[in-house]
Amino acid sequence: MALEPVDRVRLTSLAGDFATCTERSRGPVRRRGNMFETRRRTAPLGAHGLSVLVEVTRGRETTTALFDCGLRDDVLRDNVRYLGAPLDKTQAIFLSHGHPDHYGGLSAALSLVGRRDGRKIPIVLHEAAFRERCWTWKDLRGGRYRLPRAVVRSPRASVAIQSGPAVFLSGMAMFLTDIPRRTRYELRRPGGQVLYRDGRRWRNDTTPDDGALVMHVRGRGLVILTGCGHAGLINTVREAVAQTGVSSVLSLVGGFHLCHAPARRIAATIRDLKAFAPRWVIPSHCSGLEFEAALRNAFPRGFALDSVGTEYTWDAPS
Ligand SMILES: [Fe+2]
Ligand SMILES: [Fe+2]
Repeated sequence: MALEPVDRVRLTSLAGDFATCTERSRGPVRRRGNMFETRRRTAPLGAHGLSVLVEVTRGRETTTALFDCGLRDDVLRDNVRYLGAPLDKTQAIFLSHGHPDHYGGLSAALSLVGRRDGRKIPIVLHEAAFRERCWTWKDLRGGRYRLPRAVVRSPRASVAIQSGPAVFLSGMAMFLTDIPRRTRYELRRPGGQVLYRDGRRWRNDTTPDDGALVMHVRGRGLVILTGCGHAGLINTVREAVAQTGVSSVLSLVGGFHLCHAPARRIAATIRDLKAFAPRWVIPSHCSGLEFEAALRNAFPRGFALDSVGTEYTWDAPS
């Protein structure tokens, strides 16, 4: 299974927890936030979750995909309009896992990606994304949720169930699911746990559907995009390297789900991440303030905090 190197990867943050950012643009990071845009009547909306527009270019061909849809239809719709993001050319929607902060805006996404040629757009996801789930946090059991099959049965969409790694977008992107859980300290999810319904019983949920999208910028290395990173950040990077055969990591972007993680786990993750020497680390969403601070200390030249509207572009050397 070969992942084709590409000439450019561009990611645009369409939905996330931070809708404004005081950081400046630098290198591959172009901020398009709303700090001083007083002449516009609207501003990007922030909401828990993640949605990223992915554009990959090889030669003269650019292919576009959507990775996750954020928590709410209105957030995705408004932000796409505000940013003028080109969703109409989207070839596929990848759902990183069946949590509502990633599938909640799926109806809006399907209306925004409406294809002029009448072909259905594939929604790529793991079967476990359809599990009925609920949060559990100490003695509190949170609300139940489930990705409605009716949404993915839209006349605009086809469902592509994926387990294990596979390449998409003419070989230019690899979607990883069923990521092996080999790192000891990543076996347990930090903070609140999730249960899923198995018949009449509720079982501990390891989120086997947790997925990541991987691209290879020719001559520079891998761009690894995670949704929540429930498989574990180190597990995910190891799997990306193992499946692609590319050992250099150019950038890690996405939710790293280390909110509420103990200090020793954060330290172990930073230690193991350094072995891969990523040039850019861009946490979003559920990464957690403590882990973001640790990343900034460990990778001061390559740290950027994700915010809605920010565009990240990596080009192959000319
Ligand atoms: Fe999430
Ligand atoms: Fe999640």
